[in-house]
Amino acid sequence: MYNLNMTRGEFLSMMALAPFARGAASSPINAQRLRQRLEELSVHGRPAGGTFADGVSRVAFSDADVAGRTLVMRWMREAGLNPRIDAAGNILGKRAGTDSQLEPVLFGSHIDSVPSGGNFDGDLGVLGSIEVIESLNASKATTRRPLEVVVWTNEEGVAFNNGLFGSRAAAGLLVDKELDQMWNGTNQREALKKIGGDPDHIDSARRARGSFHAYLELHIEQGGNLDREHLPVGVVEGIVGIDRYDVEIRGFANHAGTTPMPDRQDALVAAAELTVAVNQIVRHEPGRQVGTVGHIEVSPNAPNVIPGLVRLTVELRDLDIAKVGRLGKEIQDRARATATETKTTIEFHTASHHEPALADPKLQTAIEEASARLGLKTKRLPSGAGHDAQSMAHIGPMAMIFVPSVAGISHSPKELTHWEDCANGAAVLLETVKNLAA
Ligand code: HGY
Ligand code: MN
Ligand code: MN
Repeated sequence: MYNLNMTRGEFLSMMALAPFARGAASSPINAQRLRQRLEELSVHGRPAGGTFADGVSRVAFSDADVAGRTLVMRWMREAGLNPRIDAAGNILGKRAGTDSQLEPVLFGSHIDSVPSGGNFDGDLGVLGSIEVIESLNASKATTRRPLEVVVWTNEEGVAFNNGLFGSRAAAGLLVDKELDQMWNGTNQREALKKIGGDPDHIDSARRARGSFHAYLELHIEQGGNLDREHLPVGVVEGIVGIDRYDVEIRGFANHAGTTPMPDRQDALVAAAELTVAVNQIVRHEPGRQVGTVGHIEVSPNAPNVIPGLVRLTVELRDLDIAKVGRLGKEIQDRARATATETKTTIEFHTASHHEPALADPKLQTAIEEASARLGLKTKRLPSGAGHDAQSMAHIGPMAMIFVPSVAGISHSPKELTHWEDCANGAAVLLETVKNLAA
């Protein structure tokens, strides 16, 4: 069983000995190559002196992201996909079908990560998609429909604080002036050029509604349901809606030694009260909604200065977007009271809003039938994580294949999906793609 405090050595030996669990299928996927490529990709963004067990920091537009994209494009070339980079930085590669007039089956994911993230989030979907093409090539199989593999730009949204960038560009969902956004001393335009994008022609990345027959994404669950129930495959019913706010709390920076407690306007005290309020308000009602304060900056951030300014993020998620909106309002009402009590000002600015998305019922059935042909049990479940598939849902039918995350851990170096579960997921993707493209 996975213990959250295991050492790196224990993690690595568990990876090496990963049992053939959950009814591993005998599949046409080259499991060894998939594992080797996941391990090779994880080098880009690995902490200095680290190992696979130390995860990755491959934030979009970083040098590590560029290196990872270069490696993936090499593998796509080797698989005959002839990859190109679109204006939004998405990497796209096509395998011809026997009938070029038909819309393609589109599938893929992302390879950018959160800071100190895991080795499987997004990566499995991209490398599993390339494996599908390699397997079809190896068996000289043809499909009636063309196949198209995609690597989306900046899914995580750590860069520029708004995720699903590449898939939103494809779906026509970029927000006004998004390319002028600043982050980390650069703007979105410069960042796009760094990865081969073309911000001046960003509209050329748009895909028309119906420009694909189906969009499929293989992804780790990032929650613990499949692992807990020892199930190899999850069929996603829907992806949560997400509201993300930038919050600015202004107090008054002053001397920590000479300012009496009643006279303080302490922005960090206000931030702390707001953080607890987010947790209380979100937990107050039944349901699977979640709320997180995940990023905070304190200034001047000195031990002997009362914090005068705090910037933080509030992120709220649920399948019911009306509930997300209501919780956001309740939290802002509470913030007004906190501002009065602490003699500070608290301003909320919407950083991003992603609508929830339902998977296509026919595609869900196609995944279940493919899994059954491989002797793999399935379960339908929602996704608490956001995905590029929710952008694709705006312009066509989408579905997602989940494989287990050990102990439900993700966005952490301890993120782990057993190798045979990785191979099973790729096998289900292959089987589903063949069926949809036949
Ligand atoms: O944040 C998420 O839900 C996803 O991992 N980008
Ligand atoms: Mn992901
Ligand atoms: Mn993620």
